[in-house]
Amino acid sequence: MSASMISTTDLTKSYDGVHALRGVSLEVAEGTVLGLLGHNGAGKTTLVNILATLLPPSGGNAKVAGHDVVRDSRSVRGCIGLTGQFASVDEKLSGYDNLVLIARLLGASPRQAGERAEELLEAFDLSAAGRRLCRTYSGGMRRRLDLAASLVGRPQVIFLDEPSTGLDPASRISLWETVEAMVADGTTVLLTTQYLEEAERLADTVAVLSQGSVVAAGTPSELKSRVGERRAQLSTTRRDDAVKVAEALRGAGFAAVQTPEEGAVSVPVAGFDDFAQVVRAVERAAVPVTGLTLSEPSLDDVYLSLAAKSTAADGR
Ligand SMILES: Nc1ncnc2c1ncn2[C@@H]1O[C@H](COP(=O)(O)OP(=O)(O)OP(=O)(O)O)[C@@H](O)[C@H]1O
Ligand SMILES: [Mg+2]
Repeated sequence: MSASMISTTDLTKSYDGVHALRGVSLEVAEGTVLGLLGHNGAGKTTLVNILATLLPPSGGNAKVAGHDVVRDSRSVRGCIGLTGQFASVDEKLSGYDNLVLIARLLGASPRQAGERAEELLEAFDLSAAGRRLCRTYSGGMRRRLDLAASLVGRPQVIFLDEPSTGLDPASRISLWETVEAMVADGTTVLLTTQYLEEAERLADTVAVLSQGSVVAAGTPSELKSRVGERRAQLSTTRRDDAVKVAEALRGAGFAAVQTPEEGAVSVPVAGFDDFAQVVRAVERAAVPVTGLTLSEPSLDDVYLSLAAKSTAADGR
């Protein structure tokens, strides 16, 4: 069992009466990725900034790599990398110089710093623009440089606050591959995201934050199974046909419903046996079915259903 690299207990944070975190307890095992999902204002950046020692908590405690973020903030800073929600590169320097500067500040020799800078520019597809001033970079290029900057010191733990915001699809995939490579090397990652596919792709565990509290946590598949059920979707070309299909399926014991789209029927199926029975029931009904698909629940469904529940609770 691997050790906990990030751990928070009952962490709270208030800004002048705004309760940004209301008692957050989390554990992230070494070499794993925690995906922190949440609406705007849920408290994601606040949590990241406390863990990165940029912000003091109001209560509770937090440890990173075994060091307390308040009492031992220097040690924490020595083993983390942070990519903030907003790019923080120095506009007046080139990409190369930004990276060299950071490496030098971390104690590398001029030669080591130059080598590390070249290596990271290459990894983030910035070699060609490496000598240009960052002022001339596109948003996506700055984002990539920012991420490269957080990796200069080969940190054990890395915090990525909405790392792929503003990236095009190709850059996003290359970012994911970079994160996966870091994790394969044993790095522990906490990333915040609004992209469910990102959490699903990268995260070993997911925590859903809503108004400063963790409202759900688990593996992506555990969360999916909480709301999730596989559904078979059947399409027909006529509304009458859809009615007949739905009746036949209900006759076979399935909770079939007609979906708002004209001529479609949706039915929950527990497994492939159910799916086969659905096919047989439709065959017996002898109604022409033009399409049949099986869909897995997505993390999106989990998120929306939790968000709906918390909004309903807030509206009391
Ligand atoms: N410096 C501050 N002063 C006062 N309130 C703040 C401050 N920083 C954040 N907040 C409030 O704390 C809450 C959490 O903000 P936070 O930035 O942590 O959310 P977030 O989940 O990162 O949102 P986003 O998805 O928009 O980045 C919000 O209500 C926000 O308005
Ligand atoms: Mg934020």
